[in-house]
Amino acid sequence: MTRRVDITVVGSINLDLVATAATLPAPGETVTGATLGRHPGGKGANQALAAQRLGATVRLVGRVGDDAMADEALALLAAGGVDLSGVARDAEAPTGVALIAVSLAGENQIVVASGANAAFLPQHLTSPPRGALICQLEIPLATVEKAVAAAEGFVCLNLAPAAEIPETLLQRADLIVVNETEAAFYGERLHRAPGLVAVTLGARGAELRRAGELLASTIPPPVEVVDTTGAGDTFVAALTLALLEERPPRDALTFACKAGALATTRAGAQPALPLRSEVEAIP
Ligand code: RIB
Repeated sequence: MTRRVDITVVGSINLDLVATAATLPAPGETVTGATLGRHPGGKGANQALAAQRLGATVRLVGRVGDDAMADEALALLAAGGVDLSGVARDAEAPTGVALIAVSLAGENQIVVASGANAAFLPQHLTSPPRGALICQLEIPLATVEKAVAAAEGFVCLNLAPAAEIPETLLQRADLIVVNETEAAFYGERLHRAPGLVAVTLGARGAELRRAGELLASTIPPPVEVVDTTGAGDTFVAALTLALLEERPPRDALTFACKAGALATTRAGAQPALPLRSEVEAIP
C-alpha cells in the first residue's frame, strides 16, 4: 500500500465552454455545426483533481467569482474530495471561463477569460502550502512567487502558459513541466535549472532531463484520442505524485505518460481525469 502524499495546488479555476467541431477555425474563419459542452477546468483545478484521483490528498488554493459558474467549476473537485477551504469567492470578478474549440482529431485551441484568477493576489495567500506545491502560470506571477517562496517541500512548476519569469522560480523548482512550445520559449534557461525538467511531446511521449542530460524518455500507450484538453495537467499531477512516492525517474515518467494518455480518451478536462486503478491497469 502506497502512503498518501499531501499536495497543495495554488492556481487557476475555470469553467470550460467547449465547442467540438469537425475542424478548428483558422484566423478569420467561422466553423459551424459544433456541439457545445460545459465542464469544470482551469490548469490549477485540473491538476488538483488529477492528483486527488491518482491517490494524493489535495488542497486547492484559488479564486472564483461569487456566481453560478463557480458552483459548476467547483462541482467535480468537491465530489472528488479535494479540500476547497482555500478557494475564495470574489465579489467583484466573475469566475474564469475558458473558450475551447476541439476538433474531431482531438486537437484544441483555448482562450481564457481569467476573471477572478487574475484577481488572485499575493495577499490572498495567508498560509504556507501543506506538503508539496504545484503551481502554473494562469494566476498573477507575484502570487506564484509568494507561494513558491513559502513552500518548504517539493515544488513543481508547470510553466504554462509560457510567460516571462524570474530566475528564482527556476532555481527553486524541484520539477519543471513544459510542453514543446513552452520548452522552445524558455530555451537554454531550462538546462540551467537545478531540478528535473519534463517536456511533454504529445503523441510522441515525454522526456525527463536534469541539467540538459536525458534521464528517461517514454512513449504513451496507444489510445483513441477524443480530446487532449487536460492531458498535460494530468501528466503534471501524475509525475509529481510518482516522484513524491519515490519512484525511479523512468517509472515516474511512464506512470505520468499513461495517465496523460488516458485523459485524452474522454471529452472535457476534469470529466476525463483518470483514477489510479485505470492507470495501473495499463500494461
Ligand atoms: O490545461 C487545460 C486547461 O487550460 C483548460 O481546462 C482550460 O480551463 C485552460 O485553463
